[in-house]
Amino acid sequence: MCPTKGINTAGHLPTDTRLWPLKRYTEMHRRSLDDPEKFWAEEARKLDWYQTWERVLDWDPPYARWFVGGRLNASFQCADRHVKTWRKSKVAIYWEGEAGETRVLSYSTLFRAVNRFASVLKKLGVSKGDKVALYLPMVPELPVFMLACARIGAVHTVIFSGFSAQSIADRVNDIQAKVIVTADGGYRRGKIIPLKEITDEAVKLSPSVEKVIVVKRTGEKVPWTEGKDAWLSSLLDDAESLVTPEPMESNHPLYILYTSGTTGKPKGIVHSTGGYLVYNHSAYQWVFDIKEESVFWCTADVGWVTGHSSIVYAPLSHGAAIVLYEGAPDYPTLDRWWDIIEKYGVTIFYTSPTAVRMFMRSGEKWLQKHDLSSLELLGSVGEPINPEAWQWYYKHIGKEKCPIVDTWWQTETGGIMISPTPGIEAIPLKPGSATFPLPGIDASVVDTNGKELPTGQTGYLIIKKPWPGMLLDIYGNPGRYRRAYWSRYPNSYYTGDFAMRDEDGYFWLLGRADEVLNVAGHRIGTAELEDAAISHPAVAETAVASKPDEIKGEAIVLFVTLKEGELPSPTLKKEISQHLRKVIGPIATPDEIYFVESMPKTRSGKIMRRVLKAVASGQSLGDLTTLENEASVEEVKRAYEKLKGTKSTPKEA
Ligand code: PRX
Repeated sequence: MCPTKGINTAGHLPTDTRLWPLKRYTEMHRRSLDDPEKFWAEEARKLDWYQTWERVLDWDPPYARWFVGGRLNASFQCADRHVKTWRKSKVAIYWEGEAGETRVLSYSTLFRAVNRFASVLKKLGVSKGDKVALYLPMVPELPVFMLACARIGAVHTVIFSGFSAQSIADRVNDIQAKVIVTADGGYRRGKIIPLKEITDEAVKLSPSVEKVIVVKRTGEKVPWTEGKDAWLSSLLDDAESLVTPEPMESNHPLYILYTSGTTGKPKGIVHSTGGYLVYNHSAYQWVFDIKEESVFWCTADVGWVTGHSSIVYAPLSHGAAIVLYEGAPDYPTLDRWWDIIEKYGVTIFYTSPTAVRMFMRSGEKWLQKHDLSSLELLGSVGEPINPEAWQWYYKHIGKEKCPIVDTWWQTETGGIMISPTPGIEAIPLKPGSATFPLPGIDASVVDTNGKELPTGQTGYLIIKKPWPGMLLDIYGNPGRYRRAYWSRYPNSYYTGDFAMRDEDGYFWLLGRADEVLNVAGHRIGTAELEDAAISHPAVAETAVASKPDEIKGEAIVLFVTLKEGELPSPTLKKEISQHLRKVIGPIATPDEIYFVESMPKTRSGKIMRRVLKAVASGQSLGDLTTLENEASVEEVKRAYEKLKGTKSTPKEA
């Protein structure tokens, strides 16, 4: 059947029925599901292996192990294999500092740096299987350290540089990291973020840390602990120039990356070496149609999975040229990104709907100053993109000539799962739909009993077959791994997302189905926020809800009951907000805080978040019987009235 509205990715005209039926994509997708092992073995042969695998897949639900017995090294894929070819003089990284400085790293420069950084780690006693935490701003040293860890078989954990000391310590303690790499500071909107001071605070709480390596970025004076702290520049003085890469078994962890779940404790998502690289290498080609001459810019921070896969491992494994930008999108002016696209001739631009909406609001005048004609393909990731923002992106950034790949995936999936695949075949686009699952991905929309839903009905998105990019485990918590992803639907991966398929089979991703918020494309658990808020001495009880936000998608709203004797005040609001920033980081800043006398609860004492969400969003409460059958309607209504009443009572000084 033909879509009624769409934009084709070849001529980019509205609905072009000539593109139907899809031939190459459909054939490839079918083949991949008919014989996944044969399909993935062919894909895996595109990488360099020291030793070929004995078995393509061991599937012992819920654990999948890919390319068992095969040996490879991620830094070899991303550096060594290119310096053996003409690509040695090709640009690997165009780095743009916030203040406008530029550093350009060729593949041979990258190769040398990775070797020397690997030597630094080795000399500090870091060896295969050890954990290294990277708490760095967006400087070239960050990807170089990731690859240096991979080279010697150490497992990296990148901690987003916006996180607090407590958040660093939680992660470092969970994995017992031996070394933290940080910088003397990072730039954000012209201000310096004191990363070394924050790291020092974290190290006080983290006894496993033996060494802190400090990258010089700002040149500011920083506190120093003799014996523990070392400047990277001094360590490099004694570094060897070549370090032989460790041939890693395919299922040895490449990295651990923390993400939010439904409890207060973030989950350490463990990714493999072989499966992860194979999956990302292939997915990147299918989605971005990467060419030798492409200049690829993904605006995410390396601290999120998007940065790991779409800034570091996938593009560099292809020998692509990437842009890495240190600063904020609107600094010093709102055309900073457009200036960067023009300056480096970016051909593929990959960003978030939040960023698109922010620029949409500031108007087109910032775009008019720049020549964006180098752009060929646009991408979107992290949250649903509303059709209005999609159209604006298509019209004003892509000038109606660039297809948009709306890519759905998760930290756990390792790589892009549902997206248009212009690298396979042009697919007619529908603004707001991520279109179809990639080859090898068996996605389905089901009801609570696991029954596949007919088109047009909203249900839960599940993946029915393992794929090579799938997480290996949750670090140190296999029970949680089973519960979070595999307990609802036997032998299928539960994504935690709502989705719907339309009459043409297109997937529409409709947001989280669990108690996880998506604020500006960043996942944050309501429980994490609540645990942090309750640790404030004046807070007795707390519940987090969200409300729709024009730019960020969702905004955090905090409901608080205070301890006996504590009085609500604007100062206290500010204090609680500051407290959340301190415990988690600026991404946890609530947009609104309401002091209430009591929370709406079910008879069993569970706080009714949906009611709070409706209150926060100003929506009608709807049919409460179906929302939460344990509670009596009257009980909820009373609680609701009470809540509404206290929102603006004189108590709120
Ligand atoms: O709800 C989905 C949303 O982001 C969640 C995953 O967040 P995270 O692990 O931080 O990874 C984000 C970047 C890969 C998903 O469960 N999400 C991600 N991409 C999309 C999306 N929602 C709708 N459309 C997307 N393209």
